[in-house]
Amino acid sequence: MCGIVGYVGNRQAYPILIKGLHRLEYRGYDSAGIALVNDELELNVYKTKGKVVDLEEACRTKDLRGTLGIAHTRWATHGEPSNANAHPHYSESENLALIHNGIIENYAVLKQELTHQGCVFRSNTDTEVLVQLIEHILKSNEVSLDKAVLWALNQIVGSYAIALIEKGNPDQIIAARKSSPLVVGIGEDEFFISSDASPIIEYTNQFIYLEDETMAIIYRGEPLKITNLKNIEVPHTIQKLEMNLSELEKGGYPHFMIKEIFQQPQTILDGTRGRINVDGDRVVLSGVIDHKEKFVNAHRIIIVACGTSWHAGLIGEHLLEDFCRIPVEVEYASEFRYRNPVIYPDDVVIAISQSGETADTLAAIELAKSKGAFIYGICNAVGSSIPRATHSGSYIHVGPEIGVASTKAFTGQVTVLTLLALSIAYEKNSISRNLFLEVIEELQNIPRKIEAILQQNHAISEFSKIFTYARNFIYLGRGYNYPAALEGALKLKEISYVHAEGYPAAEMKHGPIALIDTEMPVVVIATRNTLYEKVISNIQEVKARQGKIIAIITEGDEQMKQVADYFIEIPHTLECLEPLLTSIPLQLLAYHIAVNKGRDVDQPRNLAKSVTVE
Ligand code: G6P
Repeated sequence: MCGIVGYVGNRQAYPILIKGLHRLEYRGYDSAGIALVNDELELNVYKTKGKVVDLEEACRTKDLRGTLGIAHTRWATHGEPSNANAHPHYSESENLALIHNGIIENYAVLKQELTHQGCVFRSNTDTEVLVQLIEHILKSNEVSLDKAVLWALNQIVGSYAIALIEKGNPDQIIAARKSSPLVVGIGEDEFFISSDASPIIEYTNQFIYLEDETMAIIYRGEPLKITNLKNIEVPHTIQKLEMNLSELEKGGYPHFMIKEIFQQPQTILDGTRGRINVDGDRVVLSGVIDHKEKFVNAHRIIIVACGTSWHAGLIGEHLLEDFCRIPVEVEYASEFRYRNPVIYPDDVVIAISQSGETADTLAAIELAKSKGAFIYGICNAVGSSIPRATHSGSYIHVGPEIGVASTKAFTGQVTVLTLLALSIAYEKNSISRNLFLEVIEELQNIPRKIEAILQQNHAISEFSKIFTYARNFIYLGRGYNYPAALEGALKLKEISYVHAEGYPAAEMKHGPIALIDTEMPVVVIATRNTLYEKVISNIQEVKARQGKIIAIITEGDEQMKQVADYFIEIPHTLECLEPLLTSIPLQLLAYHIAVNKGRDVDQPRNLAKSVTVE
């Protein structure tokens, strides 16, 4: 949801900012822009509709000098993607330039007032209202720039991460945040700001994660000053962040998505490393052990999440109910937060989020916290807002996920949910010793089994060509594999723009069966498990109506090979771990169909990876 980056120091800002925008492009990619203050103290703003490469092209002949600058990559909220609506936004006098990630909810009222005072607007964005308001305050009051920003922020309703620079001032960046992420990187005689650490990590590993509702006054050569919105200076801690730069590169793969699909044997291993003891008979999740009584005494678990993370939550529901015998509800965070839910102090709320920044999930957490529930986070991005807002939690440790369609984060979340369910069940004594040991052992076999599925990549790529031009798909699954079917359908929708519907296999006859004809591919997860016979019946219902069956089957299942029109084999595993395997061929199928269609796999239209607006 928009990426912002800024630099002040001794180097030229432009190359740092452009490289930073490329790293942040996963957050939005409909327009991009940059503002620089050069040695003549001029403030130059260049911006364009399109991606960061289009901005680079547009900048080719421009004055790009300057050791201070800010830059932005946009995911449109207010105002269509266009040159005028791209950030940075100038104030009317062109003395100030502002970039913003978030939504200013009361922009209409403020715009009306400013227009009334004679202010002329150049864009349809909410952001321009803020920069005009700051200038208006500066003009009508004898205050410093940082005071004017503070006064303006106190009039704003909504969410923001902003950065502002000024003509004639080659030394200062003012940055602030409320409900949108912002980090400050501290180098040798230089400062960086960014929506996340990825644009900064190659220059410094010293970071400050700005707290909510704070403002950073960054001045070349001076110590960093951070205040709250009441202008009271607040202390800050510098954190050391280690990140391997190769994690931010494609590493020889054509897309980040396929790299991330292929990383899964390793990322699942990383997610379990150190969390299963050497004897393989204990799960060590410190987030649970430290708060044992909260989990053991929980009368209910509520899982809140969005998108792919919500699908992982549905698998978590099965695992937690199966192993721990605690009732579980899985909620879309965006619905939960607005429906006055019943929450008790002895509820445990599990928030799942890859980015750790999803606005709806954060709001759901705050709501549950206000009712006294214990909040456990399952996140990927280290240091992001959700892990900081929760009482306890576990990282999934899959490394940066850059492809907009989530793959390794999904299996990482399911892995941690499995460990979590085992861990609680152990404390509650609600799982048999045999099953406990069996699941731990088999979880450690999963990476090897995923390797075997990945070896079929070429075959799946060839096979995907048959379905490249299908206009609709249905994905069916039951039990543990129902959420895997939903996730498979979501992957196809996201990156190939083909309509795909995920459904519980038995529910199909209550509606979607009307869609089935010779043109309709039906992807069925039909592995050999307790629901096997039932799924065969569901397949027959499709076949009777001439639908084409693509089945994900257990290796060597001759019976299913006869029934299905096409099949992909996966190794046998425990039913409760099947989604970790069945989701892999579905990721590959979606990927190859999207590639065949020439889609922008890593940056599909209209989507963004980090959704910091509600
Ligand atoms: C966006 C992403 C999805 C993701 C969802 C939730 O829509 O495109 O891939 O599943 O947000 O994000 P989170 O970071 O909270 O898991």
